[in-house]
Amino acid sequence: MLKKVAILANGGDVSGFNAVIRAIVKTAEKNGVECYGFIDGYRGLLNNNYVKLSTADTASGILHKGGSIIGSSLNANVFNYKVEEDGQVVYKDLSEKCVQNVKEDGFDCIFTLGGDSTQKSARDFSLRGLNVIGVPKTIDNDVACTDITFGYNTAVSVATDALDRLHTTAETHNRIMCLEVMGRYAGWIALESAIAGGADVALIPEIPYDIEKVVEAVKARQKMGKNFSIVVVAEGAVPKGGSLSVKDVRDGGKGVINLQLGGAGDAVAKQLQELTGLTTRNTTLGYMQRGGTPTSFDRVLSTKYGAKAMELALEGKFGVLTVLKNGKLDYVTLEEVVGNNKEIGAVQGGTAESNVRLVTMDHDLVKTARDIGICLGD
Ligand code: F6P
Repeated sequence: MLKKVAILANGGDVSGFNAVIRAIVKTAEKNGVECYGFIDGYRGLLNNNYVKLSTADTASGILHKGGSIIGSSLNANVFNYKVEEDGQVVYKDLSEKCVQNVKEDGFDCIFTLGGDSTQKSARDFSLRGLNVIGVPKTIDNDVACTDITFGYNTAVSVATDALDRLHTTAETHNRIMCLEVMGRYAGWIALESAIAGGADVALIPEIPYDIEKVVEAVKARQKMGKNFSIVVVAEGAVPKGGSLSVKDVRDGGKGVINLQLGGAGDAVAKQLQELTGLTTRNTTLGYMQRGGTPTSFDRVLSTKYGAKAMELALEGKFGVLTVLKNGKLDYVTLEEVVGNNKEIGAVQGGTAESNVRLVTMDHDLVKTARDIGICLGD
């Protein structure tokens, strides 16, 4: 019998965290289960810092709110946790302390809301004997085994709105406008917003670009009398034979994101101005994509994921991730999500060993983009 469960939100925030939390709490209460939330993700699990969640107060009126009412920790891999000892930085496996906290306080299930690194740790905790159920979160839409993650649709919608705004100013001043969007090593946001926002070019990490092809696309438009162009650049876009644009390198150890991407849009804009002679500007959309109110799509998806996660817990199905498969709610094992990345506590998202879901060349979005003449830089 399930009596007491807890939720944790981990990794970069997205719009929809609160909608998932609310759905879990509502479904739990309906079934007589008490619900708690660890503050700041895995860090809260480690420090045994949690609050009671209930629809009477803490988890009320939050469906439309961005952020997370229980916070979210960045770069906290408790299997390889960065600590200072005698003035020295050392990395320690503190997962056993988390397991003890959960057991001592009698939590029957932990819901882990997060992306691929979060679900990797969830799988590792499940191997250590905890009942864990994951819910796939990230604006990047790159969690394996699911059609879509919550937060992604809102990010695409923010990027689309930005493209609409850039369109009018590009047209007024005959400029090329680049928009750098997030997504890390996946081009989902760039590709989908390019289609939704009527962009002329979309450069995604999965297709290393040839800047000459972009120049050709801009010139072809000029020939038609269109003296402006809209170029979406994924932060992870790379030129053929070139490398990623990196803004900063952090030292968080294994299993966390250490590379801060940035600069791809500026680099493309600079080259396009030089090669076309057209005034070119870049806008980097940044954290706008993660904040604010979720779209109705994300509210519904998050609610479905949250309710399903609690249903799975009631059925005693642990060590799994809620997913959408061909549009239907379902679940897969965390082992499947982790893929070949079996080592406990290791590997950050987006590395060769991780199992992130990238855009494939046979995906409808790629085909549609090509059909309507969006230049993909190849
Ligand atoms: O993974 C989500 C994401 O927003 C990426 O799209 C982006 O590269 C990264 O997080 C930014 O991370 P940080 O919050 O550490 O700057």
